[in-house]
This record gives sequence, C-alpha cells and structure tokens, in this order.
Amino acid sequence: MHPASISDYRELARRRLPHFLFEYVDGGSYAEVTLRRNVADLEALSLRQRVLRDISQLDLSTELFGTRYAMPIALAPVGMAGMCARRGEIQVARAAEQTGVPFCLSTVSVCPQAEVAQALARPFWFQLYIMRDREFMRDLIGEAIALKCSALVFTVDLPVFGARYRDMRSGLSGAPGLGRSLRRFAQIARHPGWAWDVGVHGRPHQLGNLAPVLEGSGGIEDYIGWIGRNLDPAINWKDLAWVRSLWPGPLIVKGILEADDARAAADLGVDGLVVSNHGGRQLDGALSAVRALPDIVAAVGDRLTILADGGVRSGLDVVRMLALGARGVLVGRPWVYALGARGGAGVTHVLELLAAEMRVAMALTGCTKIAEINTGILAHDR
Ligand SMILES: Cc1cc2nc3c(=O)[nH]c(=O)nc-3n(C[C@H](O)[C@H](O)[C@H](O)COP(=O)(O)O)c2cc1C
Repeated sequence: MHPASISDYRELARRRLPHFLFEYVDGGSYAEVTLRRNVADLEALSLRQRVLRDISQLDLSTELFGTRYAMPIALAPVGMAGMCARRGEIQVARAAEQTGVPFCLSTVSVCPQAEVAQALARPFWFQLYIMRDREFMRDLIGEAIALKCSALVFTVDLPVFGARYRDMRSGLSGAPGLGRSLRRFAQIARHPGWAWDVGVHGRPHQLGNLAPVLEGSGGIEDYIGWIGRNLDPAINWKDLAWVRSLWPGPLIVKGILEADDARAAADLGVDGLVVSNHGGRQLDGALSAVRALPDIVAAVGDRLTILADGGVRSGLDVVRMLALGARGVLVGRPWVYALGARGGAGVTHVLELLAAEMRVAMALTGCTKIAEINTGILAHDR
C-alpha cells in the first residue's frame, strides 16, 4: 500500500510492528472513551468554506517561544517510540529538524538526550516526568540545560497510571513472568523484519535517559518495575515551582484540562501549556482536548502560549485546533505510526501530508496566514 493519509500509516504500522508494540502505541486507558472523543470531537467541528479570496500566497510559518518554525505543529513526546524503528528517536528528530518543526524527546525514550543532541544541528524540546527520585530529576534537567534544549515540557497528568487493557492483553504489562515474556517473544517472531532491524540492531530494550537509575539489564521489565516504584502521587504545585526555579528557558506544562489549573500554572511563571489528556491514556471520561481548549484560552490565552494535542489526524484537525485558540498543535500517534511503518522517511511524509492538508484547509476557509485562523472559520451548528 502506498500511504496517502495518517490512517494508512496506522494500518502499515499495525502490519509491521509486533502486536504488543502496536497496541501500546494505538491504545488508550480503560474503555478508551476519551481516546475516541479526541478524534470525534475534532471531526464534529464544521469548517466554513469561503471563496474568491486570492489564496495564491499561503504562509504556514509561525513563531513559538521565540523560534520561527515551518508550521505550528510539534512532535509530541512519546515514551519508548524508539522501539518502533532502529534508534527511532534519532530518525524522527532528524525528520522534524529537516521539516522545521520542534521535536520533543520523552523522559522514557530509547535514545538518550545526548545521542539526540549529537544527531541534530538545532535544539530540541525535552519532556520531563517527575518521579520520586528528585535528585535524578534535577540531573535530567541539568543535562537538558547543558545540551541547550530550547524548551522543557513538564508533564503533570501522570501521578498514577491509567490502566491500559490492551497492554495487559498483549503481554506488555500485567503480572511479570516467563508467560508474559514468551507471549511477546512469539509476537516478535511473527515480525522478523522488525526483529532484525530494530530488535537486533537497534538496542530498543534500553531506555537511555533512565540508564543511570534502572537496575538489571535496563530492559522493559526493569523499566516497568522502576516506574511502578517511582511514580509520585504526592506531586503538587510546589514541584512545578521547583522545576521553574531550575529551568531558565521556556517552560511548558503538559496535561492541563481546566481553567483553574491553567491560572495556577500561569501564576507560577510558566511560559506555555499543552491542553492535553495524554492522548486518552490517563483519565478515561475526561474532556477531549479540543473541548477543553476554549475555556483555557479564555482564562490565560493572553498570558501564555497555549498548545493542544489529542486526536489530530489531519491538517484539517490542526486548523480546527488553531481556530479554537491554540497557537500550536502537538501530534503523537501520527508520527509514531509513520516511524513504525517507514522510519524517518515516513515521519517526513506525514509532516508533508499535514502541511498539504493544512494548506487546503486554509485556502478553502480563506486564510493565507496562521494568524488569520480564528473561530470565524468554524460553522456553529445551524
Ligand atoms: C505510545 C504513547 C506514549 C506516550 N508517552 C508519553 C510520554 O512519555 N510523555 C508525555 O508527556 N506524553 C506521552 N504521550 C502522550 C503524547 O505526548 C500526546 O499527548 C498524545 O499522544 C496526543 O494524542 P495523539 O496521539 O492523539 O496525537 C504518549 C502517547 C502515546 C500514544
């Protein structure tokens, strides 16, 4: 199949990746209500078609946190994404750099910060989870400063894990033991291409940033055990103030869905927010990001740069998020499907598809610049 859309890339990734890995990427928490809402609520927003406006010169470029980017799309932090292709985060980071959009490296990436920095000419964003081991968190922030990361994305919606049934069924999580490992092994054996390219040559089982703290071989089992012991349900606003005191550059808090929380973050001096429900992987039943967005823009849009993510599956969806006040949009699964299907070339193609779709959406709603996109392009159900 020659992929023409993000849903085609999803199908290709489903064929190419071992079952447990595809399910890990594709799934959400519990009954996946919020996962579906993210997509459905975006699709439900109708766009107003405008005509005869000379849309021959379209400019998608935008500025975020003092840097000009080719378009208002950033690649969201995705843990263990480097398992989807050989040294996957390097491939995706290069694709983002060549396209001119920010790439955000997850705390729980396969490739460590230093390896990504070495592969790039320009700075990337780093995402931080706060775990019990605050000294180690301080070290990670220090390394991001030393490597000149251009933004720190502090994810706050994971004080506990939302259960992911698909991971339990596939053998990725659940009671540890030989049975679970054998199930995964059988799935890998059905994908010899992935096993050779990624499994053998990619060292995908070692999570680079966590290497200093993981015990044992540093593999998935060690990681799951460490995360289980280190998630910190005590995390609170003082921790955000602490991170703010350590990080001198743009600080973006990710995982905000309520205006009151947005105001509290703004009061602590953060620079941006990502309106996000973690791609429907945490509180199932939470509002879709696109429905939460307008209240947050109304509350703090004049003080902070508001980004949003969740359910964006086309350039049309990017335009819909921008129309509701987001200054930029993160995409998660779309780039991971592409990475799993075709490596870095797939990610570059997905970014081209998003840009092409954005251009058409802007042209047919009569917008020639990002700044012209506003709620006026949305049809209110008539
Ligand atoms: C497989 C997977 C792993 C993720 N890992 C992280 C992570 O390590 N850190 C984080 O802040 N968000 C993580 N997220 C959430 C994404 O950053 C983003 O919020 C979400 O994917 C957006 O929704 P979308 O996939 O519908 O675009 C993850 C999402 C997925 C799908």
